[in-house]
Amino acid sequence: MRVIIVKDTQQMGRVAADLIVQDLKKRAVYVLGLATGSTPLSMYQELIRRHREEGLDFSNVISFNLDEYIGLPANHSESYRRFMNENLFNHININKKLTFVPDGTIKDLCDVEKFCDWYEGQIADVGGVDYQVLGIGTNGHIGFNEPGSSLGSMTRIKTLTERTRLDNARFFDNDINQVPKYSITMGIGTVMKAKKVVLLASGKGKADAVVESCEGAVSSKCPASALQLHQYATYVVDEAAASKLTLEGYEKI
Ligand code: GLP
Repeated sequence: MRVIIVKDTQQMGRVAADLIVQDLKKRAVYVLGLATGSTPLSMYQELIRRHREEGLDFSNVISFNLDEYIGLPANHSESYRRFMNENLFNHININKKLTFVPDGTIKDLCDVEKFCDWYEGQIADVGGVDYQVLGIGTNGHIGFNEPGSSLGSMTRIKTLTERTRLDNARFFDNDINQVPKYSITMGIGTVMKAKKVVLLASGKGKADAVVESCEGAVSSKCPASALQLHQYATYVVDEAAASKLTLEGYEKI
């Protein structure tokens, strides 16, 4: 696993943008796996800047988002579809019809299961994800794959832990009762199938999850630890998030 330690979130955004755009110009079709949360925002801002100032072209990009809450209307301020539109898609020349976000508005459970299979099929039909972007939860989750998730899991419904709902309550008037209890998320197996993966983390609050996933045992207790088995996984973390790492040999820039 490659670990790059950066000074701040701006540098994290630039380094992550460098990684994911390196093949973008060479490909007829480039498939990105995208994440929400506050962590990837600096990378999205950097991508938007490059589009505006340097003409970075996204017309060949297809994107698949990791996850979505179940039960929020698509136009709810905290729906991940809305987050992606507002923080990235509305500002670049991506074809919005080719931006996929799990549909959290489906009511019938059987239909949700069908949707999850369909989502996996769509990813497979375009040849799989070329570059998957990830954040990490304070409990080591990726997407909404909470501790205990099968390391081979595919897109499915997941119940959110209280820890995650508490962490995310800051987006819901600090009221855990407003945070949905269920989500649709790509599985850990889905993430592991991406050709390349980059995980971003910043701030002291992520230091335990970063060290456990990088240097701890590969275990469903810490879902991100599965990335130790990925052929091409890179962590881009700021100094605070990296502060508990103990091994030598990490890149510091
Ligand atoms: C959420 C998302 C994850 C994200 C994580 C961290 O629950 N489902 O994809 O990585 O929390 O969020 P943040 O970047 O805001 O700390």
